[in-house]
Amino acid sequence: MKIIVTGGAGFIGGNFVYYELKNHPEDEIICLDKLTYAGNLETLEDAMKNPKFKFVKADIADREAVYKLFEEEKPDIVVNFAAESHVDRSIENPEIFLQTNIMGTQVLMDACRKYGITRYHQVSTDEVYGDLPLDRPDLFFTEETPIHTSSPYSSSKAGADLLVLAYYRTYKLPVSITRCSNNYGPYHFPEKLIPLIISRALADEPLPVYGKGENVRDWLYVEDHCAAIDLVMRKGRVGEVYNIGGHNEKSNLEVVKTILKQLQKPESLITYVTDRPGHDMRYAIDPTKIHNELGWLPQTKFEDGIKQTIDWYLTHKEWWQNILSGDYQNYFDKMYGERLD
Ligand code: NAD
Ligand code: DAU
Repeated sequence: MKIIVTGGAGFIGGNFVYYELKNHPEDEIICLDKLTYAGNLETLEDAMKNPKFKFVKADIADREAVYKLFEEEKPDIVVNFAAESHVDRSIENPEIFLQTNIMGTQVLMDACRKYGITRYHQVSTDEVYGDLPLDRPDLFFTEETPIHTSSPYSSSKAGADLLVLAYYRTYKLPVSITRCSNNYGPYHFPEKLIPLIISRALADEPLPVYGKGENVRDWLYVEDHCAAIDLVMRKGRVGEVYNIGGHNEKSNLEVVKTILKQLQKPESLITYVTDRPGHDMRYAIDPTKIHNELGWLPQTKFEDGIKQTIDWYLTHKEWWQNILSGDYQNYFDKMYGERLD
């Protein structure tokens, strides 16, 4: 089988490339990635040594480049991780989110229609459901929860999801969608909460916590997400949406304090900053469908996963320090400059 993995130089896509090479060594993996600020070829350094892996630099919204690749490679499966993925950036500049996340998805699916595939899989997010109140712990997102987005990022992901389902209904394109909760693990870009806190705590720098730190996220170890996507794209029903999550809700403050404890750093580093506009309160996934239909269950407990993640950041300082010494520092100063003064 030949699989195109878009966005494979990013966090989850990179982990997915390694998951596939390890668990399906018979398959060929072609990574298509534009290498935006979030794409990092260092992440794929080991994959590059594998003869079953190939990297192609291109934009998923570049029709000519995408058609050329499909023409040459004739893939069986396309799994689309490529996206602008950071909520705060989408608030600053929504346009590229619509361009990549919606128009890019359209180009990929048009290529799938033109050249023929057995499955187009869209990697989506629980953020398309909006948020849940903190005082209703009995409520969870199911696949039937209405789409109700808060940020330009989540709106662009929801727009893409609707387009994917429309291509199924109208053109019978064999699609599937997964909507996952917050991931954590190796290769997570240090603009996101967990790697940001780890890297800044190690440098004894103030740790920006939005609002009161009460917002809740449902954390899942990235390898569990990869296993779920692998199952759905190979065995999931066509035209279906599957939610992915491990019932692991934590407030941001709990997460930050857990990291500080493990690193033996003081809680006095925590600095409350102005809240994110439109900040979603709580995410919580009901994963019953993927469990019942495909037998998926998360394998990594948060206590173990966060320890492994911290250890990874400690043993791969070069990976994230290279990022922090580049463009990201300009971004950080722009985003947090006034908030941390
Ligand atoms: P990321 O930002 O770490 O990586 C995105 C990758 O896509 C980068 O390698 C980047 O270079 C590439 N890319 C961006 N625009 C592109 C374009 N136009 N053409 C080709 N490549 C492009 O993102 P991530 O956190 O790994 O998320 C991957 C996918 O999973 C996204 O679709 C995201 O919406 C979804 N998702 C993420 C999470 C999470 O917790 N991180 C949870 C659920 C779903
Ligand atoms: O739920 C899935 C989503 O999870 C994915 O679709 C997104 O691509 C991914 O980025 C993530 O979105 P979040 O907005 O939840 O992740 P982020 O790491 O940006 O923030 C996690 C929580 O921490 C959120 O409540 C905001 C808060 N936060 C974040 C940052 C960067 C802070 O308090 N301080 C910070 O500096």
